[in-house]
Order: sequence, then structure tokens, then C-alpha cells
Amino acid sequence: MLKPNVQYRCIGKGFCGSIWTLEGSQDDVCTAIKREDGGPGRSVTNDYNMHLRVLQSALQHPPSIPLSIPQCHELIQPTDAWWQLRLHQFPAGYSACRALISERIPKVPRPISDKIVDLFCAGNAPLSDFVKSNVDDDACLIRPYLGRRRRHRQEATSTSRFQRFSLRNVPLHIDQMEALGLDASSYAETMADALALMHWGARIDANDVEFVLAPPRRVEPPPSSAFQSEYLGIHCMWILDFDCCRPLSMDEAGIEKACVAFFRNDPFYPRPGSGEAADEELWKVFKQRFLVASRGVLGEVSEDGRILAEKLVERIEGEGRLRMRRRKEEWACVEHLSY
Ligand SMILES: Nc1ncnc2c1ncn2[C@@H]1O[C@H](COP(=O)(O)OP(=O)(O)O)[C@@H](O)[C@H]1O
Ligand SMILES: [Mg+2]
Repeated sequence: MLKPNVQYRCIGKGFCGSIWTLEGSQDDVCTAIKREDGGPGRSVTNDYNMHLRVLQSALQHPPSIPLSIPQCHELIQPTDAWWQLRLHQFPAGYSACRALISERIPKVPRPISDKIVDLFCAGNAPLSDFVKSNVDDDACLIRPYLGRRRRHRQEATSTSRFQRFSLRNVPLHIDQMEALGLDASSYAETMADALALMHWGARIDANDVEFVLAPPRRVEPPPSSAFQSEYLGIHCMWILDFDCCRPLSMDEAGIEKACVAFFRNDPFYPRPGSGEAADEELWKVFKQRFLVASRGVLGEVSEDGRILAEKLVERIEGEGRLRMRRRKEEWACVEHLSY
């Protein structure tokens, strides 16, 4: 039943649009509305179409590990009755627009996000207190950055009131995962399964998709395949944001596109060519699993498909080596200049 007094609340913003949810209402507690009110050229219609392809592919090749894909409910047009019934539940000045209704990814609960605040804002009590009680920081999701290690492990803690920190999309880097005892290898395997599903099952380039760690959807009994950790509790890896994805052709051009998308995305995936032993190990875990998962999706019999997956891995490794060489040259140049 509609509860006209409950107001939609913004829980996320990106270049394509803003994400809204109704909290305090049982009916809509599990839905997220993505309004197409961002930059030009971004489309929730494409988001919807690409999202459906991923869900369809997951039905055919159910992921066996803690990978969750939000359900995709409906694409709403500005003239639809949906808006007539609900526009008044948005802040004044908002108008009807194209929108995508999907399942809301559950937020990381406060007792856990409080620990994350303690980790990131240690030594800055005013900031820490602010974030812990800030309503806008209630929608906490964690971005696993398996492809980035912070250079200065524990950056000098700032005590400035003006330091900024947000729990929306908190990046958790590989060195932090190690320190917190999180199982980065399992995350790498889940990401590899997701990428194989998107490339070969849904046949999309996975451009700009996001991965987040968050609680599993509330079902009884709770899913047995979730990640367990003392620090983060029971959680899953969710994928979201398909609006920049495009169909992927199963040929050389497709491989090139997939490789560009791999490196252009935020550093979710482990990357080859970092030069750090632990990171190379993690890349190997990702690579092995990606090849196995690709065979699972494409079928053992599809020789051409298998070759595509191997070619993509080789292409990514080549690009990794190239980037490492460039970095070394830059360092050599800096050292030379500083003498
Ligand atoms: N289904 C969802 N459930 C919970 N939070 C979401 C959901 N979809 C998006 N968000 C949050 O909103 C942010 C922006 O949404 P996104 O789809 O990435 O928009 P854009 O395409 O503009 O980048 C995401 O990074 C995430 O934090
Ligand atoms: Mg986004």
C-alpha cells in the first residue's frame, strides 16, 4: 500500500543520475529508483537493457559463489502514472523524468560502518562523530579495490574539521583488506566469475560497472554462500550500474574493447604488472578463475570462445607489462631530475 507521507531520500549520485529510496515504508524498502537527471548522453534505458542481459545470463549460468545481482523491476517514463502518484514524495522542485526501478542493495549496517569510520577517521573525533550520526552517510556500501594498494599505508591522520569522508561507496584497498583479515582471493574469484558472466553470457563490455560489498538480500534461510568475516560480518559482492555498458562483439575488436574497459574502470579488478608479489599472486587467482568461469559460460565445446577468453587475459597482461615499463621510465626520469 502506498504511504504518501513517507519521503524519498537520496542514497547515491553518479554521472547518469541520482538514486532514491523510501525508507520507513515496508513496500518500497527494497527498491532503488535511479532518476535520469545526470549528465547528457547517459541513459537509464540502456542501463535497463544491459541489466536485463546480465540477469538473463545469470539465469542460464547461475553464479555458484556470493555474487548478487539486483533485480531489475521497471523502466518508468516521465508521463507514467507512477510519477503522478509519487512526485510529491520527492523534494520540492523535482520533476518527473525517466527512471529505473531496481532492487536496493542492502546498506552496510551502522555497527559495521562505525568500525569503518574508526578505521578511516582515527584521531579525528569531530569528523568521526559527524559521520557516525550523519543521515546522508547511512547508505553505506564498500567498494573492493583489489587493483590498488595505498602507498602510504596509514596516511597521517588529519584532525581538521574540514577533512572529508563519506560512507557512501567507501573504497577498501588491498592493503586494508590484508590488515583487516579479509579474504581478497575469494573476492577476486567472485569478480572473475562476474566478469566472465558479463562478457560471455550477457555479451557486454562491462564498461564502468561497479562492485560493492554489502549484506546479502534478506531471505529465509540466509544464503549459505555468503562471505563471512569477523570485521564485515556476513556479506556478498553485488554488481551495479550498467548504463555505460555496450554490447561486446565476440572477435578481436571485442577483446580490445573489453581490455580498455578493464583498465578504465575504477581499480576493482586485480591488475597484472604491479611489481608487488602479493598483487601478482592475486592477479593469478583472478586469471585462473576467469578462464575456468569462461569455459563454464561458453561451454567446453566452444573452442573459439575459449580462445577469446585466453586472448583477453593475454591482452590484459600485455597492457599490464606496458604500464609497468612506463611507470619505471617515469621513476627513472624523476630520480634523474632530482640529482
Ligand atoms: N540498487 C542500488 N542499491 C543501493 N545503492 C545503489 C543502487 N544503485 C546505485 N546505488 C548507489 O548510487 C550510486 C550511483 O548510482 P549509479 O547507478 O552508479 O549511477 P551512475 O550511473 O550515475 O554512476 C552508486 O555508486 C551506489 O552507491
Ligand atoms: Mg556509478
